Amino acid sequence: MTDMTDTLASALVPDFRKAMRRLAATVTLITTVDPTGRRHGMVATAVNSVTMDPPTLLICVNRTASLHAPLIERGRFCISVLMPAHHELVGHFSGQKAGEDRFAFGDWRVDDTSGLPYLHGAQCNLFCRLASVTAVGTHSVIIAAVEAVQVQDDVMPLIYANGGLHAIGDTVS
Ligand SMILES: Cc1cc2nc3c(=O)[nH]c(=O)nc-3n(C[C@H](O)[C@H](O)[C@H](O)COP(=O)(O)O)c2cc1C
Repeated sequence: MTDMTDTLASALVPDFRKAMRRLAATVTLITTVDPTGRRHGMVATAVNSVTMDPPTLLICVNRTASLHAPLIERGRFCISVLMPAHHELVGHFSGQKAGEDRFAFGDWRVDDTSGLPYLHGAQCNLFCRLASVTAVGTHSVIIAAVEAVQVQDDVMPLIYANGGLHAIGDTVS
């Protein structure tokens, strides 16, 4: 970008931040494990489906996040979609705790096939293999193939909107 477009983009940041507070998103925990067996994880709402066939999704991970390097190195990760009952994990996995201490709460198990840590009892667990990484500003946009899925029958995801955590409200149609 030129200096002028830089300035224009910077001027947009406060309004963009306000707009994003209105873009409600489902809260997830992304987890992986390193070669020494240490688990790594963080809260993420930047998770979206890309294609149904083949099952493909994308995540955006800040390159400064402790999860970033082990996730890229392992090339595999799990996304556990949270329910309202898991709200206390959000603080732990977004800075209140670090490293293995983040896994002190919740029913964490190891997937037999991938060896990945996953939150048992989450809305769903998506076991993914990294397909591509694109740097965009501070983040890596990671495209991944979904290799296995576990789903809970109840549909009750934890939602992040306007800086707070919510359960889904009234059905409108
Ligand atoms: C609701 C919520 C959603 C978040 N979504 C993302 C995300 O999609 N990508 C990301 O890189 N960080 C996201 N974060 C920030 C990371 O969870 C946070 O920076 C975390 O502490 C990772 O950094 P660390 O492991 O180095 O402490 C989110 C935080 C919260 C509270």
